[in-house]
Amino acid sequence: MELVFDKIGKRYKNKTALEDVSLDLNYGIYALLGPNGAGKSTMMNILACLLKQTEGRITLDGSDISAMGKEYRNILGYLPQDPGFYPNFRGYDIMMYFARLKNIKDPKDKTQKLLEFVNLADDSKRKYKEYSGGMKRRLGIAVSLLNDPKILILDEPTAGLDPKERIRFRNIISKIGSDKIIIIATHIVSDIETIADRVILLKDGKVIQNDSPSELVDHMRGKVWLTEMELTAAQDHVLEHTDSNIVKSGDKSYLKTVRDEKPFPDSYECEPRLEDVYTYYFDESGVNGDHADDKI
Ligand SMILES: Nc1ncnc2c1ncn2[C@@H]1O[C@H](COP(=O)(O)OP(=O)(O)OP(=O)(O)O)[C@@H](O)[C@H]1O
Ligand SMILES: [Mg+2]
Repeated sequence: MELVFDKIGKRYKNKTALEDVSLDLNYGIYALLGPNGAGKSTMMNILACLLKQTEGRITLDGSDISAMGKEYRNILGYLPQDPGFYPNFRGYDIMMYFARLKNIKDPKDKTQKLLEFVNLADDSKRKYKEYSGGMKRRLGIAVSLLNDPKILILDEPTAGLDPKERIRFRNIISKIGSDKIIIIATHIVSDIETIADRVILLKDGKVIQNDSPSELVDHMRGKVWLTEMELTAAQDHVLEHTDSNIVKSGDKSYLKTVRDEKPFPDSYECEPRLEDVYTYYFDESGVNGDHADDKI
């Protein structure tokens, strides 16, 4: 299965939300990483055929998805950023409603299995409005899996979740299977760090990097610096420099800076992580340039 974005562009009146986005996706888990307003939801909505692009086309095995109609919808699962389920429906009812809407063969059986899969079987008779944030997201994932989609789109599936629910989310995604293209839009690096096969960095509507997490991290070698510093000095520094953050270890505090150049004479290099990739490319201070033309 090959899903190709061919020079996709999207303009809303006078705002360019996506520009010249070209991608080639095969089976695997893709993280679409970018800050607020980068264009992630716009991209997901175009991929779900809910929004029409201004330029370019998306093809699945050579066919334009906008011309595939039902054939495409049948293999698509989409969890929007805000799914807007009926608050007074029980979890079970929501599943059955969408199962019928999607013409699922054995809706009761499928609903039951998926509720168990996302660990909601015991809460299926409770109303959606009584669900916690994590339960709501898990129900959303179950709904998006009803038709056993080949392409699964999850827009900010972990927003507002506590650490335990984030782990649950990662476990669920890892269990879904490898015979799909799964695209997860997020700005939370730790949620995709261990599960994504590839990470696509989106900035101001453009794809600025597209690589495996390990290659992206490797590219940061020699750019991540630790500097031992008094806590108050470090606090002052991070207010002014968005490429830096504070790391505490025991009673010592350090400044961690992601920068091409050594920030202080006594700074030393440290092992980069995926979160440093995010800091490097999405730092707003401009100290590292915008890296839009970097090539790994
Ligand atoms: N219907 C719209 N009309 C005009 N501008 C829009 C519309 N929808 C989105 N935009 C703009 O397009 C840009 C991309 O928005 P989008 O929602 O795709 O970003 P995002 O990466 O999903 O952000 P977030 O992380 O906040 O969800 C933003 O500048 C946004 O203001
Ligand atoms: Mg969004």
